[in-house]
Amino acid sequence: MLKDQDRIFTNLYGQHDRSLKGAMMRGSWDGTKEIILKGRDWIINEMKTSGLRGRGGAGFPTGLKWTFMPKASDGRPFFLAINCDESEPGTCKDREIMRHDPHHLVEGALLAGFAMGAEAAYLYIRGEYIREREALQQAIDEAYEAGFLGPDACGSGYAFDVYLHHGAGAYICGEETALLESLEGKKGMPRMKPPFPAGAGIYGCPTTVNNCESIAVVPTILRRGGSWYASFGRPNNTGVKLFAVSGHVNTPCVFEESMGMPLKDLIEYYGGGVRGGWQNLKAVIPGGASCPILTAEQCEDAIMDFDGMKAVKSSFGTACILVMDQSTDVVKAVWRLAKFFKHESCGQCTPCREGTGWMMRIMERIVTGEAELEEIDMLVNVTKQVEGHTICALGDAAAWPIQALVRNFREEIEDRIKARKSGRMGAMAAE
Ligand code: NAI
Ligand code: SF4
Repeated sequence: MLKDQDRIFTNLYGQHDRSLKGAMMRGSWDGTKEIILKGRDWIINEMKTSGLRGRGGAGFPTGLKWTFMPKASDGRPFFLAINCDESEPGTCKDREIMRHDPHHLVEGALLAGFAMGAEAAYLYIRGEYIREREALQQAIDEAYEAGFLGPDACGSGYAFDVYLHHGAGAYICGEETALLESLEGKKGMPRMKPPFPAGAGIYGCPTTVNNCESIAVVPTILRRGGSWYASFGRPNNTGVKLFAVSGHVNTPCVFEESMGMPLKDLIEYYGGGVRGGWQNLKAVIPGGASCPILTAEQCEDAIMDFDGMKAVKSSFGTACILVMDQSTDVVKAVWRLAKFFKHESCGQCTPCREGTGWMMRIMERIVTGEAELEEIDMLVNVTKQVEGHTICALGDAAAWPIQALVRNFREEIEDRIKARKSGRMGAMAAE
């Protein structure tokens, strides 16, 4: 298990205050000017050495992403947008950073922004995160007051501003291009990619969009070195990370661990074990609602990182683990997710707008036991029409949990339909 001295966020939880004074006692803003003076190439190289992959869910290499920004300005300003719109069901890891370590994020914004030649960072925060917004705003104000931000940030001669933008509670605004639209004051609807934000982002200007955790780890990586960070985990899946475990476990929590740990160990050690013991486990969604659902058997030897989850045909996502014991109606649970995605679809592309409705309605017929057995294959067929045919990843995110449900729990679906037909099961409500 990770040693306390290697925990970036959780080493002193409960024992420090999040104010500038408390943050400085824990090392924030120490030698920031010297890091800046080492130059952009040095910072980007350290980030590449660290192997950090985007912590929002997709896992795109962070250092590489930063190199996509133009090297020289063509007259347009450059920006950094930080995605604090954490809305994936079951996901609450960035919230911890905003609540307890906002200075990690603000200092990270300056260092990342400098490395890319950005003149400002926009922190886009989820509409429901009220206290977190207050904590972040306090940190930004304190940083300005101390001269860490502004026309001569940290005395480095570099001018840098940080703005906080509060979202209105739409899940789709966490999609990077919908976030940019929303920042510009428009309806949060994803844009076609390419162009990627580095080519045309906020108001058409070069912009990099990074997740909150990806930026908040930057100061520690630069202080302790990319190689230190890369010494955790395994190749292609390096570093330490915030995880969460919730659902039918004894101690739901957010915790920090090395990448590449066995999923079972994380549930047992941090989650305090499955309610009723490991043998009572039925299913796990490993990284937020869009990740394919795993059976207990698949969880037995699964490794919790990008490649480990790929090996069991799921995905690492936000690393927020949802645990379901034998009492769970998994069919109903996935129907509930289908309802969520239907509700959150922005509706601009037909396969997603119509497909999420179809998926939800067929799932509803299965839940109530009214469906015919043939509808199971029809449902899978609908998911294939949606997957890969939409502007943004929401369509895929809606399709994958259903595909995994049919792949892994088909018998349970069939039993349900057969039971209703044979009169063994009464009418069920999908509420
Ligand atoms: P994506 O794979 O399309 O992109 C990931 C990042 O890499 C983006 O910043 C994108 O601009 C960049 N990128 C990818 N290919 C590129 C290229 N050829 N050139 C330049 N840049 C490139 O994934 P997306 O749609 O950004 O994120 C999907 C993930 O988000 C899902 O896996 C899900 O786990 C996660 N998610 C997280 C949520 C949360 O609350 N944290 C909410 C919903 C989804
Ligand atoms: Fe909107 Fe869905 Fe299309 Fe994404 S996939 S742009 S959410 S309609």
